[in-house]
Amino acid sequence: TRIYISRDMASVALGADDVARAFEAAGCEVVRTGSRGLFSIEPLVEVESEGKRIGFGPVGPEDVAAVLDGSHKARLGDVAELPFFAGQQRFTFARCGIIDPLSLQDYADHGGWRGLDAARAMAPQAVVDAVKASGLRGRGGAGFPTGIKWQTVLDAVSDAKFIVCNADEGDSGTFADRMLMEGDPFCLIEGMAIAGHAVGAGHGYIYIRSEYPFAIAAMREAIALSAERIAPFTLEVRVGAGAYVCGEETALLDSIEGKRGQVRAKPPLPALSGLFGQPTVINNVLSLAAVPFILAEGAEAYAAVGFGRSRGTMPVQLAGNVKHGGLYEIGFGITLGELVNGIGGGTASGRPVRAVQVGGPLGAYFPPSMFDLPFDYEAFAQAGGLIGHAGITLFDDMVDMAHMARFAMEFCAVESCGKCTPCRIGSTRGVEVMDRIIAARDSAPAVPAGRQWEGYLQKALNSRTPDRIDTGLEAQTALLRDLCDTMKHGSLCALGGFTPYPVLSALDHFPQDFGAPAPIKEAAE
Ligand code: NAI
Ligand code: SF4
Repeated sequence: TRIYISRDMASVALGADDVARAFEAAGCEVVRTGSRGLFSIEPLVEVESEGKRIGFGPVGPEDVAAVLDGSHKARLGDVAELPFFAGQQRFTFARCGIIDPLSLQDYADHGGWRGLDAARAMAPQAVVDAVKASGLRGRGGAGFPTGIKWQTVLDAVSDAKFIVCNADEGDSGTFADRMLMEGDPFCLIEGMAIAGHAVGAGHGYIYIRSEYPFAIAAMREAIALSAERIAPFTLEVRVGAGAYVCGEETALLDSIEGKRGQVRAKPPLPALSGLFGQPTVINNVLSLAAVPFILAEGAEAYAAVGFGRSRGTMPVQLAGNVKHGGLYEIGFGITLGELVNGIGGGTASGRPVRAVQVGGPLGAYFPPSMFDLPFDYEAFAQAGGLIGHAGITLFDDMVDMAHMARFAMEFCAVESCGKCTPCRIGSTRGVEVMDRIIAARDSAPAVPAGRQWEGYLQKALNSRTPDRIDTGLEAQTALLRDLCDTMKHGSLCALGGFTPYPVLSALDHFPQDFGAPAPIKEAAE
C-alpha cells in the first residue's frame, strides 16, 4: 500500500515522523510529501486507492491498523474534495503536499519545468513582458509590480547581475515561504532560473532564515539535484542569523555580502545597484514561485483571477487563535470575514473573534465590523492597513489591545537595526508611553478586585516621571499619536515606519482598551 505523509516542519512537530515510521514498519511504501497546509488535520495520512488519496487525520503511530482497514474514526475521504482544499485556487502551491519535494521525476510529471522551457524559448524582453502582463506584484508585502522591477534590471548595463530570493520570512504568523521551500523547492528554483534568463543574471542566492532548518536542507538538496537542469544558471543558499531586519532587502544584501545586516538608504535601488553593487532582482519566495505558472499557463491565465489591481492568487496564512489554521491560496477579492470565519472557522478557543492582525507584527488590527474588506492591496491601504505577506492572526475577546500596541513598540525596539533615530529611540519611548497608558488605565477608579496593586505601579511610575510630564491618559494618548507620526514619516525602512500601524489601529478601533469610556453599543452588549 502506498501512503503519503508530510515531512513539513509543522507536520513533523505534530508527530509525522513517528507516524511515518509506524507505517514503514507495517510494510507500507511511505512517500514523504510537503504539507497540504491544513494543520488541524496533521499528521495527515493519505492512502492511495483507485487514483484517489483517502485521508485520515490527525492520526498517531498507534492508528496504523485502523487506517489500513479504513475503520479509523478520523477518516476524511478524498483529500482533494475536502472543502478546505476544493475551495482553493492553487497556482503557486499546486504541487505542495502532492509530490515528493525532492523527486525530479515527480516534479516533471506534475508540470514542472514547462515555465522554464517556455521562457528559454523566448527573448528576455518577452519574458519580462509576460510577467508585467500577468499583473504579478511583490508578494513579500510591498506589492511593487514584479515585471517593472525586472525591466529595470534588464535595462541596466552590467557584466554581472544577480537574482536574490528573500526567504527571511520574519512576519509572525506566516509560513508560506517555508511551506513552499519544503514542499516544492524546484518551483522556486525554476522561478529563479526564469528570472535569470529574463534579466541576464547568471547566479542567484536564496537567503533563508536560520529558524528554517528543514527549508535550508530541502533547498540545498534540490539545488544539487537540479543543477544540470537549470545550467548555466547557478544557485546557492545563504543562511541568516536571526535578525528580523535582514528581511528588509538592503539589510539582506549587506548580510549576504558578509557585513552586519543594516538598512541602506534608497536610492540607489537594488535593481540598479544591489548585491556587490550590481543590478539585482530581489524578490520574495512567493513572487518567484508564481512565475513558472505564468510562463507555463500564460500571463492571461494568471491575470484572469483577482480583484482590481491585485491580480492572481495569494497564499493566505491563518494563524493565532484560529480553529483551522493553515495555508489557503485564493484569488484576491475574498473578504476578510470569509477568510477568518468561513475558512478559518473562527477561534480555536470558541470565544468570539475580537481582532485580527493582517500583515505580520507591522500590520494593522481590524475589528469584526471591518470584515467586509476585500483582500486587495489598495482596499487594505485605504482602510489604514496592509496585506503584507498575507498572514492573518486571530485574537478572541480576551485580548488586551493596549498590551498588543505595547508589544508592537517593544518588537520594534528589540529588532531595530539602530540606524535611524525615530525607530531606535522612538520605539523605546513608545514602550514607556504605553506603560504609562496601561498604568493610568488600570489605576482609574473602577479597578477590578484583585488588581489594586497596579495603582502602586502608577504611583511608582509617577514618582520616576518629571513633574512637567502629564501622565494622564489624554496627554499620553496624544503623545503616542505624535510619536507614531514621527516614526511613520521619519524612519528609513518599514520596521520603524510601519510600527505605527498596529499601534494606531489598536488605539482607533479599540479605544476602550486605552482607557476611553466604552462606546454605548459595546456597553449594552
Ligand atoms: P518598498 O515599497 O520600498 O519597495 C518594494 C520593492 O520595489 C523593493 O524591492 C524596491 O527595491 C522595489 N522598487 C521600488 N521602486 C522601484 C523602481 N522604480 N524600480 C525597480 N524596483 C523598485 O518596500 P520594502 O521596504 O521593500 O518592503 C516593505 C514591505 O515589506 C511592507 O509592505 C511589509 O509588508 C513587508 N514586510 C514583509 C515581511 C515578511 O516577512 N515577508 C517582514 C516585514 C515587512
Ligand atoms: Fe533601522 Fe529601524 Fe531605521 Fe529601519 S527604521 S533603518 S530598522 S533604525
